Amino acid sequence: MTETVDLAALERALTSEIAAAPDLAALERVRIATLGRKGHVSELMATLGTLPGEARKAFGQAVNGVKSRIGERLEVRKVELERAALTARLATEKADVTLPVRAGPLHDGRIHPVSQVFDEVVEIFADMGFAVAEGPDIETDDYNFTKLNIPPEHPARQEHDTFYMLGSMPGSEEALSNAAAMVLRTHTSPVQIRTMLAQRPPIRIIVPGRVYRLDSDATHTPMFHQIEGLVIDETTHLGHLKWCLEEFCKAFFEVEAVRMRFRASHFPFTEPSMEVDIDAAAIGKPGQWLEILGSGMVHPNVIRNCGLDPDKYQGFAFGMGLDRIAMLKYAIPDLRDMFAADLRWLRHYGFTALDVPTLAGGLSP
Ligand code: DAH
Repeated sequence: MTETVDLAALERALTSEIAAAPDLAALERVRIATLGRKGHVSELMATLGTLPGEARKAFGQAVNGVKSRIGERLEVRKVELERAALTARLATEKADVTLPVRAGPLHDGRIHPVSQVFDEVVEIFADMGFAVAEGPDIETDDYNFTKLNIPPEHPARQEHDTFYMLGSMPGSEEALSNAAAMVLRTHTSPVQIRTMLAQRPPIRIIVPGRVYRLDSDATHTPMFHQIEGLVIDETTHLGHLKWCLEEFCKAFFEVEAVRMRFRASHFPFTEPSMEVDIDAAAIGKPGQWLEILGSGMVHPNVIRNCGLDPDKYQGFAFGMGLDRIAMLKYAIPDLRDMFAADLRWLRHYGFTALDVPTLAGGLSP
């Protein structure tokens, strides 16, 4: 049959066209010209209807055979060409993994020393089993003062230079009728109250956060940062407090040993209370004492104010200035510069995002 001869020739011609297709686009053109809706093979199929019964069957099978073999060859060639294209691309796109990191946002941006020290302190206390707790910046007068054993007439309230929210000023007519007087928290200590009201001992938390006082000079800013610590259980005593703070200072200042001085002091919310100084040898300046924090055993009244039994539960607390210990560790001279948002300052004193403090890798870069 003439048709059979035509088919064999057509198949040979298509097969060599497929083999010769230089790239994927050329191969796609061959596919469309052959198997596409108006391709050679499809058009042959369309002539089937004009043939008599037996001849139609034989021709139909023959065309289908060509169609499926050509389809397979197209597929094989396609895989070959794709591989070749990938190999060619890989040959031109080489990545040298030994090159230094290119300058970009990750490289140019800087982590503020307060954020860095925040992470360092959390890393140290987390390792001792402390959890991080937080509270709001706008706090009730009750939590900021009263429940911390600082009743309304207590002189410590004056020392705190408090920012009162409108209508909360002590003595004002509104305040007298306003049981829920609000302040910008003057310390992180109210989070002690929030935590003791919300969870049962044993409690072991640190509280990093912003605090506010109406104060401004070279060593004071209206907003600054503190970190509070609180441990409450049935057996914790002053020895634990001293050990804990000594371990913290050694880890934070990255020294083998640190000389510390615990001075008797007074805070309404602790009894006894101590202020803690460290020998400035820890920061390479021996011969000076540096005050770094306030601390003490939590006052029984505070424990009672939170609904716990002070005959059963006891513990210690401490509060330190985060900005202050950052300045000491990284030799930053003026507190106000910390919050001046000066890019030159940040480039000098800031840390790169890759300097993540870890105990294992060393705290400071
Ligand atoms: N809240 C105190 C302040 O801002 C610091 C402080 C002292 C916190 C002794 C404490 C503490 O938890 O026990 O001046």
